[in-house]
Amino acid sequence: MADDNIIDPFGSSVVKNYDEVVKQFGLKPVDNSILDRIKNPNRFLRRGIDFGHIDFDKFLDAYEEKKPLAIMTGIKPTNEFHLGSKITAEKIIYFQKEFKAKVFFAVADLEGNVDNGLPLDQQAKTAVHNVADLFALGLNPKNAYIYRQSQERRVMNLAYLFSRRVTTNHMKNLYGERQLGLYFAAFTQAGDILLPQLEEFGGPKNVLVPVGSDQVPHIFLTRDIAEKFEKEFGFIRPSTIVHKFFKALNGESKMSKRDPMSMITLGDSPEIIRKKINMAVTGGRKTVEEQRRLGGVPEDSVVYELYNYHFVDDDNKVRKVYDNYKSGKLLDGEMKKDITEIVIKFLENHQKKRGKMLPLAEKLVYGK
Ligand code: TRP
Repeated sequence: MADDNIIDPFGSSVVKNYDEVVKQFGLKPVDNSILDRIKNPNRFLRRGIDFGHIDFDKFLDAYEEKKPLAIMTGIKPTNEFHLGSKITAEKIIYFQKEFKAKVFFAVADLEGNVDNGLPLDQQAKTAVHNVADLFALGLNPKNAYIYRQSQERRVMNLAYLFSRRVTTNHMKNLYGERQLGLYFAAFTQAGDILLPQLEEFGGPKNVLVPVGSDQVPHIFLTRDIAEKFEKEFGFIRPSTIVHKFFKALNGESKMSKRDPMSMITLGDSPEIIRKKINMAVTGGRKTVEEQRRLGGVPEDSVVYELYNYHFVDDDNKVRKVYDNYKSGKLLDGEMKKDITEIVIKFLENHQKKRGKMLPLAEKLVYGK
């Protein structure tokens, strides 16, 4: 039911039914007409985690016609990257490589300031870690433009300009009645998304903006603005590909940065990982006997999602875990033990790489 879903880019979102999200926003499904056109689909595409899109087909047309392209996204530097940020990061990294496209990445500190009340200098410190995470996950710094919103005058100028042609009614329809600061964060985000199409970045182009479901209203606003300013800038309306939320470890539909035990971050130590996974919600039955007889419910298990969404690229391994769990062969304890080791190994490796990338990240964030 549509009523079960709450989509709020400035608050907490709850999605119970993704078909409803597709309908509500008029997204197109990521089906074979899309997948057949992609050489090396990543696990988000293969597994339906990227479930909907707007004009991704047009982005693919542009790629096939060898027209200029860019990838754009942003993340608020309010905290260490958690597994939700990791999905966004992995998506831009994948598209950078797959389409040999330049990545524009906004460190969304103005939004973090106006929405979360965090001072800019504190966010800059966090952003150094976040940007180092991007590099450690595989972003190629040579084909990327990374900036803080607060330092990028062009984004702010665009935001100002855009606000001229948008009425409060339009904003209310998209976001409900909110503080003007939040509306201004939305204009700033539109500035981020249209920045790659300015003359100094080569002019109009197809821009793909990978986002989670809560960001879709911003995409609509930016597409409307692109149309309103088409004459002056030649803007092409941006495309998006939308992924499902990864559930919080306690089973809530989106992780909350306000409850640190509800999410794994890329900075977690092995002890913390053990604790968090130990507490994570499973799809298990009341007794071992019952679980052997009836099997577990992988769809309810956040632990299974750690395999499927985050840490296992091998489809066969994921399918085996799914089948064995569903049939009652694999119990929660064994599954937790297995994935805990996988996560710890991944993070140890990641944190080593990230350490090496900190100096470059610091240089970029502080613009030295
Ligand atoms: N609003 C996004 C968030 O809440 C951050 C963001 C800022 C963004 N600028 C962007 C996302 C541009 C996509 C594109 O995390």
